[in-house]
Amino acid sequence: MVLVTNKEVLDAANDGGYAVGAFNINNMEITQAIISTASEMNAPVILAASQGAIEYAGIEYIEALAKTAAAITDVPVTLHLDHGTDFNVILQCIRHGFTSVMIDGSKLPFEDNLALTKKVVDVAHPCGLSVEAELGRLVGVEDQISVTEKEAVFTDPDEAVQFVEETDVDSLAIAIGSAHGIYKGEPKLDFERLEKIDKKVDIPLVLHGASGIPEDSIIRAVKLGINKINIDTELRLAFRDAVRKVVTESDVYDPRKICGPARDAIKEVVRYKIGIFGSENKA
Ligand code: G3H
Ligand code: ZN
Repeated sequence: MVLVTNKEVLDAANDGGYAVGAFNINNMEITQAIISTASEMNAPVILAASQGAIEYAGIEYIEALAKTAAAITDVPVTLHLDHGTDFNVILQCIRHGFTSVMIDGSKLPFEDNLALTKKVVDVAHPCGLSVEAELGRLVGVEDQISVTEKEAVFTDPDEAVQFVEETDVDSLAIAIGSAHGIYKGEPKLDFERLEKIDKKVDIPLVLHGASGIPEDSIIRAVKLGINKINIDTELRLAFRDAVRKVVTESDVYDPRKICGPARDAIKEVVRYKIGIFGSENKA
C-alpha cells in the first residue's frame, strides 16, 4: 500500500472508539519492528519522525523507510512529523512524502499558537497532509522539546473548542497530566478534563508522553476519547536494554547480532501497546 494520512486512520479510530499507536522511528530496525508487529496484528500504525530523527537519519532515509514499510504491508501506515516547531521543516516534510505533520506551538501564547497552527494548516491541507496541533503544555523532555514543571499547563476545554474551530486542525494533542520521558512518580491523568474536552471537541484527541502510563489508565483514556497515543521512551529503553544485554554478556561485534535483539525487544513493546490501544484487527 501507499502511505495514508493520519486523518484517515484517526477519523476511523474516533468512529470506532479505539486508539492508533504513533511510534517514533529513528532507524531501520525500529521501523521494521513497528511495521512487522502492526502487520501481524492487522493494525493501522503511525510512523512518527521527530525533527531530531530527521536530523539524525536524514529526511531522504526517513521517507524511504516509511514508503518501503507501507509498500510491503497491507495495513494502513502513515508518516507523521512529530513535534514540528520549525516551519521550514514542515515544508521539507511536505516535499518528502510525509502524510501528516504536527505543529507544536504549545510553548507560545494561545493567540500565537493559533496563528502558527493556522499557517501550517493553510500550506499542509492543500497538499493533502493532515495536521496535528498541541494545546496546553506537557512536562518533560522529548527530543528538542523541553518543558519544566513550572511551565506545564493543562488544556482548557473551552480554549480547545475555539482553537479547533479557528485552525481547522485534524487532531489535537492535549495536556491532561502525561509527561514526556521517564516518569518520576505514578502518572495521574485528569480524566474529568479529558471527558469535558471530548464532549466539546469532535476531532480525534492525542495523548503524548504515554510511555510508563499504566494499562488501566490507557484503556480508560481510550474509552474517554483518546484516538492517537505516542510512544517513544519505552521503545528507547527496550532498544538500550537489549543492546546492553548482548554487549555485556557476549563478545559479539556483528551489528546484526547487536541490533537484531533490540529489534525483537521493540516488537514486544509495540505488540503490547497495540493490544491495549484496541487497534488490533482495525486495519
Ligand atoms: O511525541 C512523542 C511522545 O509524546 C512520546 O512520549 O517518550 O514519553 O513515550 P514518551
Ligand atoms: Zn510528544
